[in-house]
Amino acid sequence: MRPLRCLAVLLVLVLLPAAAWTLAPPRFPGPQPRARQGTNGVGAYEYETRYFRQRLDHFSFPGVGDEDEPAAFFQQRYLVGRGGGWAGPGGPIFFYCGNEGDITWFAANSGLVWEAAPRFAALVVFAEHRYYGESMPFGSKAKAYNNSKSLAYLTAEQAIADFAVLLTDLKRNLSAEGSPVVLFGGSYGGMLAAWMRLKYPHVAVGALASSAPILQFEDIVPSTIFYDLVSDDFKRESLSCFHTIKDSWKVLDEQGNGQDGLMKLSKTFHLCQTLKTSGDLSDWLSSAYSYLAMVDYPIPSEFLMPLPANPIKEVCRNIDSQPEGTSILERIYAGVNVYYNYTGTVGCFDLNDDPHGMGGWDWQVFKPQFQSV
Ligand SMILES: *[C@@H]1O[C@H](CO)[C@@H](O)[C@H](O)[C@H]1NC(C)=O
Ligand SMILES: *[C@@H]1O[C@H](CO)[C@@H](O)[C@H](O)[C@H]1NC(C)=O
Ligand SMILES: *[C@@H]1O[C@H](CO)[C@@H](O)[C@H](O)[C@H]1NC(C)=O
Repeated sequence: MRPLRCLAVLLVLVLLPAAAWTLAPPRFPGPQPRARQGTNGVGAYEYETRYFRQRLDHFSFPGVGDEDEPAAFFQQRYLVGRGGGWAGPGGPIFFYCGNEGDITWFAANSGLVWEAAPRFAALVVFAEHRYYGESMPFGSKAKAYNNSKSLAYLTAEQAIADFAVLLTDLKRNLSAEGSPVVLFGGSYGGMLAAWMRLKYPHVAVGALASSAPILQFEDIVPSTIFYDLVSDDFKRESLSCFHTIKDSWKVLDEQGNGQDGLMKLSKTFHLCQTLKTSGDLSDWLSSAYSYLAMVDYPIPSEFLMPLPANPIKEVCRNIDSQPEGTSILERIYAGVNVYYNYTGTVGCFDLNDDPHGMGGWDWQVFKPQFQSV
């Protein structure tokens, strides 16, 4: 499918069955975050939202004056389970290492943590990753994401240090210094959990890294591996569907270059705004195929989007079942509708939608520090 983008990150959630590898597409698009309190078999769960004054840079030695500098700190959001089943000081703590998005979204989709906690009389904590959700340095997202200087503190190393500091402080406040901590995480959050266990072995006794591609880096696995697997998922459902998608990239570029091409493409795909380049549409489509491979569950789900069971099968059915004479791009539109518009309530498609607040992912994936953690 689309050319390789960057290093790979496997995305699957703890409570959902296995999915495919992902090569870290730009972000998780979707119409809106969906809270699922008490639904989908997760069981009722409740938490309290708290904020912790977190240091922006864990690895330099600020002068005394810097301690008073507001920008040297930010408010890190974290959630504390209110189940009441915690054994108290000395009892275990289950700590979810937040990944690249709003932490409430991960809390709503990590049923395993909530379900296991009562059995171990564990306290549940979900900590948000810096630069995502509400945990913004410099007071606002616009300021945090302004330039490479303000983004310099968006690293996995800093995020893990945040978690270690937060945990240590929380344990002290709870007089629970002796409580064993088990780290949890899915996908990139699972990578963080594993790395944190390695780097701060005195802070946690174990880590459950779910679907965490800690070894999926370009010098370890073939660089095409992610898209090869995505392609296989589509081939397995229907070869003709796979070929329609494969052929569509060229058609799309050609049409984009033609007279009024971008306007026609925008119309065919029911976009809210006229395209500036056909590449934007290709990225949007390519993201859908990648996400579909990640959440190709055999049951209906709505982690990224509301989707039917076996969504790739549905996409291919739509692509393949159009009447004779339907153009390639119309078939592609019909297919991608399953991903972006399964509820049938989307009026037009906005290519810049970022409902889970994941705008920082590109930065994290492309900058070299991430790969050298
Ligand atoms: C972004 O940085 C520039 C300087 O590099 C500054 O002039 C501008 O005010 C900053 N914008 C925000 C929103 O902080
Ligand atoms: C621990 O308590 C102090 C004092 O009340 C508070 O400022 C800090 O935020 C607490 N730490 C955490 C992790 O909540
Ligand atoms: C979403 O699906 C509904 C129902 O099939 C359809 O009427 C609508 O045009 C679709 N939206 C877009 C943006 O294609």
